[in-house]
Amino acid sequence: MQKFLNRIICGDCIEVLGKVGEPFADLIFADPPFNIGYKYDKYFDKVKKKNYIAWTKEWMSVCKKVLKPHGSFYIAIGDDYAANVKIIADELGLIMRNWIIWHYTFGQQLKSKFARSHTHIFYFVKDKTNFIFNDHSVRVISDRQKKYQDKRANPEGKMPDDVWDEYPRVCGTFKERLDFPCQMPESLLARIIRVSSHEGDWILDPFNGSGTTAVVAHKLNRIYTGVDISKNYVKDSKKRIKESEGLPIEGEAKLKWSAHLNAELKWLYHENKVPTEQLANEPALLTLFTEKFNKRVGIKRNPFQPRQIIKHLTQMRKSAKLGPLRGQPITRKANKAKSERKLWGNGVVMK
Ligand SMILES: C[S@@+](CC[C@H](N)C(=O)[O-])C[C@H]1O[C@@H](n2cnc3c(N)ncnc32)[C@H](O)[C@@H]1O
Repeated sequence: MQKFLNRIICGDCIEVLGKVGEPFADLIFADPPFNIGYKYDKYFDKVKKKNYIAWTKEWMSVCKKVLKPHGSFYIAIGDDYAANVKIIADELGLIMRNWIIWHYTFGQQLKSKFARSHTHIFYFVKDKTNFIFNDHSVRVISDRQKKYQDKRANPEGKMPDDVWDEYPRVCGTFKERLDFPCQMPESLLARIIRVSSHEGDWILDPFNGSGTTAVVAHKLNRIYTGVDISKNYVKDSKKRIKESEGLPIEGEAKLKWSAHLNAELKWLYHENKVPTEQLANEPALLTLFTEKFNKRVGIKRNPFQPRQIIKHLTQMRKSAKLGPLRGQPITRKANKAKSERKLWGNGVVMK
């Protein structure tokens, strides 16, 4: 298995993983082509429905074989084949724990029907009782805490819902965006990797693409393996991983403020959905938020203080780096900044 350790492999995932004799992955995240005519470097994304379903069954079976008995298996899929994925998973004996809807903003505008603004993310396990689920790593501040100051509130916060609206699609204007249009957001992968694996665990992505899963696994101190059929995508994602080196999100060593801490702060802000004004005005909430931040970035000694957190949040907000919370109106200033960056009509084709 050494040859898979922290590697991005160029090849067909069915062939590559089919040769593996033993289960090695603690967590698999698969984001296959959706069979909707998307233009990939080496893959033709418009095959007969029957063939696509047969192929889906093949790669799902191979993935199941390399997944450890306590492993988790997440699959992102579009509307057209979500039902097929669920049926195949049932046939393979996988157990569904959640059928997550990732609801993103800025869906493609259509004249003749409602705009599509979601992707399905299945969360399966192999064993009904034996699996990793680090609930504490993803809990968010509850309404009891933020609105009602209710003493009965769980101090750890509440579990997020199975509709995820806190992760925007990686638009053309995003710093994170590479030359690969159907890129998953790092923040979304971070939630999955944190909750369903421990540090040092092995994460596999059979459809590596731009390498989002691998790069987040790497930043979160996990082992990664990615497989992709395109030589170019493999080359680009290796570069992406290399560039992220020495900049882990987590770890005691990372006491100096960095771009990655900014990213974490932004993700946490959008997941917890407490406006900066409220955090600034309610010390108890700010303390709670700061504790969550320190836990998330793994800092126990010399933790960040609430005043540092609000300072960074305020700075990011002023420079329009924070973005509005879902449900909050976009201010005119932020709107202007965005339109200047040609957010609208950037030519991105939706998957
Ligand atoms: C939807 S993209 C994955 C995007 C990825 N999640 C990201 O964030 O960048 C699907 C990828 O699967 C790859 N692919 C298609 N067929 C494959 C196969 N049989 N084996 C491995 N990779 C394949 C394509 O080249 C493409 O990069």
